Amino acid sequence: MWASLFLELTEYPWFRRLVWRPVYNHLAKKFPAKDWLFMNYGYDPLNESERPQLEAGDEPHRYPLQLYHFLASQTLMQGKKVLEVGSGRGGGSYYLARYFKPGEIIGMDIAENAVAFSNENHKSPNLRYVAGNAEKIPFEDRSFDVVINVESSHAYGSIDLFFHEVKRILKPGGFFLITDMRDPKNIPAFEKSLLDSGLALERQQVITPNVLKAIDSEDELKRARIARQVPPAYVRFFEEFGAVKGSQLEKDFMAGKLVYFWYVLRNDV
Ligand SMILES: C[S@@+](CC[C@H](N)C(=O)[O-])C[C@H]1O[C@@H](n2cnc3c(N)ncnc32)[C@H](O)[C@@H]1O
Repeated sequence: MWASLFLELTEYPWFRRLVWRPVYNHLAKKFPAKDWLFMNYGYDPLNESERPQLEAGDEPHRYPLQLYHFLASQTLMQGKKVLEVGSGRGGGSYYLARYFKPGEIIGMDIAENAVAFSNENHKSPNLRYVAGNAEKIPFEDRSFDVVINVESSHAYGSIDLFFHEVKRILKPGGFFLITDMRDPKNIPAFEKSLLDSGLALERQQVITPNVLKAIDSEDELKRARIARQVPPAYVRFFEEFGAVKGSQLEKDFMAGKLVYFWYVLRNDV
């Protein structure tokens, strides 16, 4: 009952603004495990021969990291200035910094404890993490070539404000890459807001089958990680929150009650 009440309340902007920052701050402080680097449901190509080659240390994070890999592959990052909004525990920006070789990448998150965790655990000369709100991004107009956003936008009070901010900070010709999930009834409003920002749509794709495949492929690894990292009283919550096989989230993806997508947009002005 509490879980469904919570989910209903997340329909309201004031509630999202109230809860998500303390939730993610709490998670970063209470669970400082150095091998918990991602908080997304992952991506697996349907043809496994397309999986990227990884260094041995990255292999345990293959599925959540592949979500970054395949989204980032939609544009060129080498030598560019990149901002990740909603960088969480920092694993995504750290992966991009090393494999996609941007000139500079900044990971930004509203949860200060997650930012501190990221700065402490991920070191690369072209990478740093800062605290900041997607609805009021603390950077100058026209200052980034690429903005990337992974499984974070559902938590924002106003998606309109976020898209307006992305448009403002992108250089002309810059790219915006976004991936997340929504109840399908909310997707038309999401798309309208995206296009009302003035950004031009390049490509879009529903990736629910790839996310479901990742949930399947990662299941054993994920359950072992949860068992290792959290006390028994929290295991059930983390299995649901982390979408193990058989979780309500997996069922909702299978039934089409939740759709996972990505969009690639360009700042044409
Ligand atoms: C599900 S996690 C995803 C983290 C990361 N992108 C990943 O894939 O591992 C969502 C993240 O969005 C962040 N977030 C929520 N609201 C935000 C806001 N208004 N501005 C910036 N970050 C926000 C949360 O603190 C959290 O770290």
